[in-house]
Amino acid sequence: MEVIRSKNAGACYGVQRALDLALKASEGDGSAFTLGPLIHNPQVVANLEARGVLAVKEPEQATHGAIIIRSHGVTPAVRRSVEARGLPVIDATCPHVARAQKAAATLAEECGYVVVVGEEGHPEVEGLVAYAHEAGAQVHVAETAADLPVDLPEHVGVVVQTTQTRDALDDVLEGIRAQGVAAQVKDTVCTATRQRQQAAAELAGQVDAIVVIGGRNSANTTHLAEICAAECPRTHHIESAAELDSAWFAGCSSVGVTAGASTPDDQIDEVVQRLERM
Ligand code: F3S
Repeated sequence: MEVIRSKNAGACYGVQRALDLALKASEGDGSAFTLGPLIHNPQVVANLEARGVLAVKEPEQATHGAIIIRSHGVTPAVRRSVEARGLPVIDATCPHVARAQKAAATLAEECGYVVVVGEEGHPEVEGLVAYAHEAGAQVHVAETAADLPVDLPEHVGVVVQTTQTRDALDDVLEGIRAQGVAAQVKDTVCTATRQRQQAAAELAGQVDAIVVIGGRNSANTTHLAEICAAECPRTHHIESAAELDSAWFAGCSSVGVTAGASTPDDQIDEVVQRLERM
C-alpha cells in the first residue's frame, strides 16, 4: 500500500511557534501556564502538562512561572489582567492574528462600525471584537451574509478571522454592498488553512482512502475531514496512530495522510510509519 503525505499538512507557522515557545518555557525551572489549552490537540496538551506547562482558565490561577498567551490571541482586557499578575508573559499570539487585531482597531477608529467576518464565540474573534470595541466602534460578527443586520451604517470597516476562507469574506461583502453600504476591507485571511484544504482535497481525490489527523475538538481538523470525505468516502479522522485499524484499508493500493493545523510533525510521522507497516 502506497502512503502519500499531503504536501501541506500539520502545524502551521503560528501553532509551531506557540509550541516551540511553550517547550522552551518548560526547560530550565519548568513551570508555565497557558490561558486555555495551547492547541486543540489532547496528546500535545498532555505532553506539555507532563513537562509542567499547565492550562488554566483565568490569569489569577497562574501562581508562578510564566504565562503563555495562545496563538489566537486574547482581548485587551485579558492581556491587562495577565500583565497585572506581574509574572513573565510569553506572547505566542500568531503574528497574522496580531495583524488582524491591529486592523480591527484601525478600522474602528476610521469607520466607527466594524464587521468581523468569523465564527461568533471563537477566541480569536472575541479578541478582534474587543480590539474594535476598545477603539470606540460598534461591532457585528457575521459568518455569512445572512448574519448581517439590516440597518448597517453608510460606511463600515471589515476585518476577517484569519482562518476564514476568501469565499466567506466575499459572501459577507456582497451582503454589505447589497445594502448600498461602502466597505473598507482589511483582508486578514491566513493562507495556511486554505493551502492545507486545497492540498487535502486534491490528495483525497487521488487515493483509495485518506487519514486525517487532529483533535476531534479542533474545528479546522474536522473541516479538513469534511473536505476529504466529499472527495473520498473512505476518510478516517483520528487523533493518534493507535486508532488506526488495518480493516479500514482492505483492498486499498494507496492511502493519503493529512493533518489539521494543530497537529505536530512527529504525530504525522508516526501515522505514516504505522500505515507503511500495514
Ligand atoms: Fe497563524 Fe495562520 Fe496558523 S493565522 S496560527 S499561521 S492558521
